[in-house]
This record gives sequence, structure tokens and C-alpha cells, in this order.
Amino acid sequence: MNSSPWWKEATIYQIYPRSFFDSNGDGEGDLPGVTSKLDYVKSLGVDAIWLSPFFTSPNKDGGYDVANPRDVDPRFGNLEDARELITQAHMRDLRVIADIVPNHFSDQHEWFQAALKAKRTSKERERFHFYDANEDGTPPNNWISLFGGPSWTQVEDGQFYLHLFDSSQPDLNWENPEVNADFEKTLRFWIDLGVDGFRIDVAHGLIKEDVLTNHPDPQGLSNALRLDVAMDSEVRNALLLTVPYFDRQGVHEVYRKWRKLFDSYGEREIMAVAEAWVHPPVNATRYVRADELHQVFNFDLLTAEFDANVLFDVVERSISLNATVNALPTWALSNHDSPRVASRIGDEQARALALFVFGLPGSTYVFAGQELGLPDGQLQDSDRQDPTFFRTNGAIKGRDGARVPLPWGGDTIPFGFSTGKPWLPISQSWKDLTVESELADPKSSLHLYKNALELRKEFLVGAGGITWLESPQHGDKNDSLLSYSRGSITVVMNLSDSAQECEADGKLVMVSSGTVDARDGIKVIPARSTAWFLS
Ligand code: GLC
Ligand code: CA
Repeated sequence: MNSSPWWKEATIYQIYPRSFFDSNGDGEGDLPGVTSKLDYVKSLGVDAIWLSPFFTSPNKDGGYDVANPRDVDPRFGNLEDARELITQAHMRDLRVIADIVPNHFSDQHEWFQAALKAKRTSKERERFHFYDANEDGTPPNNWISLFGGPSWTQVEDGQFYLHLFDSSQPDLNWENPEVNADFEKTLRFWIDLGVDGFRIDVAHGLIKEDVLTNHPDPQGLSNALRLDVAMDSEVRNALLLTVPYFDRQGVHEVYRKWRKLFDSYGEREIMAVAEAWVHPPVNATRYVRADELHQVFNFDLLTAEFDANVLFDVVERSISLNATVNALPTWALSNHDSPRVASRIGDEQARALALFVFGLPGSTYVFAGQELGLPDGQLQDSDRQDPTFFRTNGAIKGRDGARVPLPWGGDTIPFGFSTGKPWLPISQSWKDLTVESELADPKSSLHLYKNALELRKEFLVGAGGITWLESPQHGDKNDSLLSYSRGSITVVMNLSDSAQECEADGKLVMVSSGTVDARDGIKVIPARSTAWFLS
């Protein structure tokens, strides 16, 4: 194998197919829609796309409820469309990462349908977690689903099945070898169709232990596990240490097997990235040991405050923990499960943080629309589709805000996304945030992303580690600046609300907002902004 595989310091663009571009006017994005926009994707300077699920699904959880993992849902097209998308991406030197969902199937999957019809003690039921009710008729334990409400649903003969997510997403029983055999078949199916890698959904969830044990605070735990629920980080971290159903040792056996399967494709350099939000953070490194997966998401930046101490700790910890297993970190500011970064920390802060992160070693993930600086969509409760909203009776609004379709151009809604009615409404206030209008504005977020990704490729990929210049532990040790140098680039982020002086060497190549004044070797970084200097 090549000493520097393609994914090592790649920029990966996450596409939520339903919200990207609608090719046939039914109001929902689809695979031909993605294919038709690959030139745009390429122009961003990214190396790969990760497609959220497009498999056959009743779509109760945005396609993360898979009814047939080896086919395409008609709403997105068909297998031929998937093949064409992959071919067209490869022609542009873009790799394709598919999203595999091993923790659960949809209740519409043939296995679950067969389990419902089968006897209490049958091999059909052994593919899932079916248990008898307690003597008083209550479910086997008190766990609360991550989407709210009980983790158990009762079937006709009185047994309950476990679902950590929606009741339409029965958890699979990974102690049953049939389950792994079926997933290996699915992995090969997509690799043979041409995909270059996988994002593994709920990668830390497959093995369940202590299924018959109650948790002392099941509701608190369920909230702590949601990226869209704000919570004091100490309270959250304490709860996250008590999860009974995630991050069991057995999951690593699964990934060791999968790694052998990936490696059997040799030069194709098939990679996998784990969605494994585990605590304490050191546990995440287990997923990227040499004989396991290639990357693990770092979720810290999806919830971190725009604060020098917090961000310094996140970056430092992520780099040093990954180094212990010879891996590089990953960085993500937004995804389809969390509030958009511009809404969470502010427009200027989001741009500043993006430039700060693009300089770091490792892979960066960009959620489609993030490059435009999109905020969360403003939705009425009647628009919402996320199961969380329904399962919590509206107490948690859910993730639809981050999933509003992309605005492509024109002056009126739906801004070129579809000729029909978009599945979630787009607001007229996005008029200046369309791809078309940002392309026309040299100061737009879109241009900033393109410039940054180009400079990153030219000067930073493969440039090794960082040297801190300003942080709560280095330099002037003030809380306004975070600054590091890497290769020939110095990155300075001013987190404060006033301009700050620094002594960065080199010539200014980019600033996320405002203008940098330079006098007598001193540079003045504008408020809430990041600048890159090249020496
Ligand atoms: C992952 C996905 C999320 C989905 C959940 C259940 O966390 O990112 O969108 O709802 O798994 O599959
Ligand atoms: Ca469509």
C-alpha cells in the first residue's frame, strides 16, 4: 500500500441526498441530482463525498432505517443511478463514501417481518433483541430511546424488542453470526459497485451487554447522547460515562473482521470512518488501532463553545490521543444531526473556526451547505419530520433545521433546488446565501472555503504536526487568541469581540472576515476572525 493513502488528510464533503438537488421535480433530492452537481462539488476543492443513506427505506429516520441495504430507494433513483454517480465522481477524481447502518434495520426489512411472524424462540427472532416482559408486564428494562420514549416495543405475543432509536428501527443482535455475514455481503456489494469507503453509523452500538439492567437516569442519558440537546458539559460527560449499551469491547472484533475485508481489496484503499461518540475520549482511539478502522469522528467541535480554553483542549486532546495509535484526527463543525455551526456559534465565528480547523492535521468533514454559511432553517412544527420531535411530544425540536434543502440560485424560493415543493420549506431570507449569489461575491463564505481548501492542499496536506504559538498555555496566554504554525502557514484566530495584536510572521493570504492591519511587524487581527500567514 501507498505510504500516504487518499483518505489520510482528505477533505470530505457530506451530502444528505434528500436535501442536495432534486432532478425530477418531486421536491426531494436524489442521486441523479447529486451527479448533476458534481462539478460544483469538485470546484470546492474537496477529495471525496460521503452520501448519507440512499438505500431502500420507509424513511422514518431520514433513511437511517434501512429496509434493503443492497438496493436504492425509489425516491433517490435506482442502482444504475448509483453506479453512474460513482463513475462520474471517479472521473472527477472524487472518492465516494457510503453510509452503512449496522446497529439496526428498518422494521420493514424482510428479517424483521419474518421475526414478527415467527415464534418466541425462533432463529428469526434471534437476529434481533426480543425478550419476554417482566412479570408485571413492563418492558425488560427502563432504557429510554435516543429519540425519546421507551427503548422497547411490544409485539402481539407479548414479547418486547429493543430499539435504541425509533420503534421502526429494531436493533440487530450482533452475537448472531448471520448478522455479520449479511453485513459483509453488503460491504462487498457496494465496494464491487465502486464505492471507496464507508461511514459506519452508530459504530459503537452493535454489541449490547447488561440488557436486563436498569439505568439510574435513563432520560438524562438519552438527552446527553443527543447532539441537538444543549447541556452543561460536565453533566453531559458524567452521564456519558454510564452508557450501558455503547462501546462494549465486542464491537472491536467486528471491525477487525471488516478491516481484513477492506484490506483484501488492496490498492483500492477502501477506508472506513466510525461514528463512535464514546467516553472517555481516549476510548475513541481503540476504533482506529492499526487493525481496525481508518478514522473515527471527533464530535467535540459539534458542541464546543467558541472559547479559547475549550477549543485548545479539544484540538490538543484529539491530536495527542490519535497519535498514541498512529492515527490522525478528524474535524467536523456540522452534520445532519446537529445544529448548523453558523446558527450555533454565529456567522463570523463559524467562518473563523472553519479556517482554524482547515489548517490542522487530519481529515476535515464539511456538511453540504456549511460552505455557504447556511444557518438552520426556520421551521414550523407542522413541517417537522424528525422522529425525535414526535417521540418527545415536541419537547425536542429535532434535526430538521440542519436538513433544509440547499439554495442553488435565483431570487425566489426554492432557489433552484426543485421545480416542485421542497420536502422542507426554504426561507426567502436565504436569497443572498445561494450558490449563485455567493459565487458573485468575492467576500462570501463560499469563496473563503474554496480558497482555504486550495491553500490547505498546496501548503498543509502532509505538513506534519502543529506548533502552538498562542493558547491558554503558550505565548501570551490570553484568552483572545489561539494560534499555531504548521509547515509554512501560521494560523491566528481571534476569538474576542475586539481587534487583537499579534506577531505572526509571513504575508497575509486569507482572513475569514474583516481586514488585517499590519504595522511594524505587528498584525492586528479583527474581532471573531482567523487569518492565515504564509512565510
Ligand atoms: C446516527 C445518524 C442519525 C440516525 C441515527 C440512527 O447517529 O447519524 O441520523 O438518526 O444514527 O440511525
Ligand atoms: Ca427527486
